[in-house]
Amino acid sequence: MEKTTLQVHGHQGYEERTGAISQPIYQTATFRHPGFQQSTGYDYSRVLNPTREELEKTLALLDGGRRCWAFSSGMAAIGALLKLFVPGDHVLLSEDLYGGTARLCNQVYSRYGITFEYVDTAEAELVRQHIRPETRGIFIETPSNPMMKISDIRSLAALAHAQHAILIVDNTFLSPHFQQPLTLGADLVVYSGTKYLCGHNDVVAGFIVSRDLPALIEPLDLIYKSEGASLGPFDSWLMLRSIKTLGLRVERQAANALEIAHWLQRQPAVTQVYYPGLPGHPGFALQHRQATGDGGMLSFKVTSAALAQAMLGRLQLIYFAESLGGRGNPAHLSH
Ligand SMILES: Cc1ncc(COP(=O)(O)O)c(C=O)c1O
Repeated sequence: MEKTTLQVHGHQGYEERTGAISQPIYQTATFRHPGFQQSTGYDYSRVLNPTREELEKTLALLDGGRRCWAFSSGMAAIGALLKLFVPGDHVLLSEDLYGGTARLCNQVYSRYGITFEYVDTAEAELVRQHIRPETRGIFIETPSNPMMKISDIRSLAALAHAQHAILIVDNTFLSPHFQQPLTLGADLVVYSGTKYLCGHNDVVAGFIVSRDLPALIEPLDLIYKSEGASLGPFDSWLMLRSIKTLGLRVERQAANALEIAHWLQRQPAVTQVYYPGLPGHPGFALQHRQATGDGGMLSFKVTSAALAQAMLGRLQLIYFAESLGGRGNPAHLSH
């Protein structure tokens, strides 16, 4: 099935009981049991809710994964997958990583005996040199935030697997419409659903999608139901609604980004433009081997910090605000 068709129809497409073609919002915390030791399959919404289930199954299909868990934020999703590691484990991270992920690793999980090390994951050989016997994970963003560096998912998956480690890809910048890391060998994909998957700046959400590996799915199921950072039914419904237009939105955003990148290259005050859709980008060839589009994010340098600051004050259509992927967010700042 065409990926845009899948986005529109979702996993089930309609609800079997009533035929509703918009997945109902099951705004309920709990579900009545038919009798002692009997269940409809739904017990308590922290663990399983039909609206969220349709969303999770839809995203698992879009990513070519086996299972998906929807969280109340991207950071909640990242926090959950970091709990797969135990004291003594070593985890390699892209050095150019979303600041919130770096903060969570450096200031929270490092206190539990996990060692994090940053490396330029765009250089697979460098990653190989940094692997230790106790390395259990490689966590990358490609394109990276904010320097738009491209890491080779296939090579890094091979390096990780040779070491009995897992490769985790934060795919927030491209979305499953442009890149499906699980099909390239990654083990887990994580998203800030707040960004392109939502696309309207009205939901904070996060996702983990796993390949078909019980050794990952079972502990993540346990972490998910035990910690309870699950996405609520109404937010799940908004996300289902958003995903129907994912392809249309991100294709247009990527076309706009390319046009803006070309325009920026012609401006005398702009000294560097970072966008993987530009043929001069060092990751251009790799990007086009592993993704079908370049996304809507770009970054650039101007001649001085004062000019950068003055520019932010003069933006009109683009809002100077946190986040990305929805209407008018220019830059992704740490928060
Ligand atoms: C690449 C990336 N990963 C993860 C996150 C965290 O997601 P959230 O803000 O939904 O918690 C962000 C958010 O800005 C992000 O840009």
